[in-house]
Order: sequence, then structure tokens, then C-alpha cells
Amino acid sequence: MARLLLTLIIISLAISQSSSQGSLPSSTTTPTLINAAAQEYLDAHNSARAEVGVQPLNWSVTLKNTARLIVLYQRDKNNCKFANLSGRKYGANQSWNGGTQQSPQEVVLTWVSEKKNYTYANNSCLDDKCGLYKQVVWKKSLELGCAQASCADSTLTICFYNPPGNIVGEKPY
Ligand SMILES: *[C@@H]1O[C@H](CO)[C@@H](O)[C@H](O)[C@H]1NC(C)=O
Ligand SMILES: *[C@@H]1O[C@H](CO)[C@@H](O)[C@H](O)[C@H]1NC(C)=O
Ligand SMILES: *[C@@H]1O[C@H](CO)[C@@H](O)[C@H](O)[C@H]1NC(C)=O
Ligand SMILES: *[C@@H]1O[C@H](CO)[C@@H](O)[C@H](O)[C@H]1NC(C)=O
Ligand SMILES: *[C@@H]1O[C@H](CO)[C@@H](O)[C@H](O)[C@H]1NC(C)=O
Repeated sequence: MARLLLTLIIISLAISQSSSQGSLPSSTTTPTLINAAAQEYLDAHNSARAEVGVQPLNWSVTLKNTARLIVLYQRDKNNCKFANLSGRKYGANQSWNGGTQQSPQEVVLTWVSEKKNYTYANNSCLDDKCGLYKQVVWKKSLELGCAQASCADSTLTICFYNPPGNIVGEKPY
């Protein structure tokens, strides 16, 4: 709990500092708390959430660092292939794409594109393929942290969500 509070305080400090003058957070905190990529992941998630009246996610450096360790490991050892993310306490979405690199926004937009197959009334979607979208707009998820790594001809992106979404039998919002 104390750690969560500290994280939230650091995040809000970072946000107020970066929005006031674009300066880096003080040296007592992690240097790149909310950089351009983080803002892109957040904005893409939060506009999809706003469309359905769900409150925005906040950026979590802890989640980002967790995702970063995994994408770097996959880059160095597994040619950027999908990671095995099961059995973790966070919700997780990942995306692999070959060829040209996708920006954080483009990756999140591919997840959000599942929305058109999703029917809120019965909380289901065509061929059961909307887990990515439902996690993006999952109301009880409050924090987001993502990271990306590239190999010669592919990119792996992982986002973690806390608390996790996609609880069986629950609607996202
Ligand atoms: C993924 O990890 C889980 C938990 O650690 C394990 O039970 C499962 O067999 C793994 N799956 C694959 C495909 O390696
Ligand atoms: C996306 O996240 C949700 C919730 O954690 C999970 O059920 C789903 O399997 C994930 N999909 C991918 C492709 O990572
Ligand atoms: C919607 O569902 C169809 C049928 O499964 C699938 O071919 C299509 O890729 C889905 N669209 C998105 C954006 O997920
Ligand atoms: C959910 O509702 C949609 C739209 O009415 C329908 O096409 C779909 O078959 C329904 N799915 C289930 C599992 O009932
Ligand atoms: C995000 O952070 C702001 C500022 O610290 C806080 O007011 C808000 O409640 C937080 N939102 C969530 C969903 O935790």
C-alpha cells in the first residue's frame, strides 16, 4: 500500500513537472518517468476508454519496468517472439508484428479495432476475439505500463494492467 502510494505520488510529480515545462523529473526519481512513448500508450488507451465513459488509466513505472525486462529478454533470447505471460498478477496484452515497426499508438489501435466485433449487451464478440479490446477499456484496471523492443524484422509490445481485467463472467464496464 505504501509502495502504491509512493508510486502514485511520483507519477503525479512527474506529470506536473513534465506538463509545466517539459523538464525531466528530479534526480531522486527514475529519469524517464513519462516520456513520449508512455504518453502515446496512455492517450490511445484513454481515448478508447473515454468513448465508453470509463475513467483514464494512470501510467505505472513499475508496470513499465516489468514489461521492459520481458521485451528485452525476448529480444535478446527469443527473437522478439511472444512471451509466456500466464501466471502473473497483472493483466497483460502483447502484440507481435513483423515488417515495419508500429508506433505505440498504432499497436494500441489494433487492439481497439476489436471493438467493432464486440457487443456490450451480451458481452461477447465474433469468434471470441476481443480480449485485447476488453482489457483496454476494463474499468477496474487503474494503471498501465508498456514497453516495446525490436529485432531485425519484428517488434514485440507488451502492456501490463493493474488490477488485471478480463475476469470471466464480468463486463468490462
Ligand atoms: C507458461 O507459463 C505457465 C506458468 O508459468 C506454464 O504453466 C505454461 O506451461 C507455460 N506455457 C508455455 C506455452 O510455455
Ligand atoms: C490481452 O489481455 C487480456 C487480459 O489480460 C487477456 O485475457 C488476453 O489473453 C490478452 N491477449 C493477448 C493477445 O495478449
Ligand atoms: C472481426 O471478426 C472477424 C470474424 O472473426 C475477423 O475476421 C475480423 O478480423 C475481426 N475484426 C477485428 C478488428 O478484430
Ligand atoms: C450477441 O449479440 C450479437 C448482436 O445481437 C449477436 O450477433 C451475437 O450472436 C450474440 N452473441 C451471443 C454469444 O449470444
Ligand atoms: C490517476 O492519478 C490522479 C492524480 O494522482 C488521481 O487523481 C486519479 O485518481 C488517478 N486515477 C486512477 C484511475 O487511479
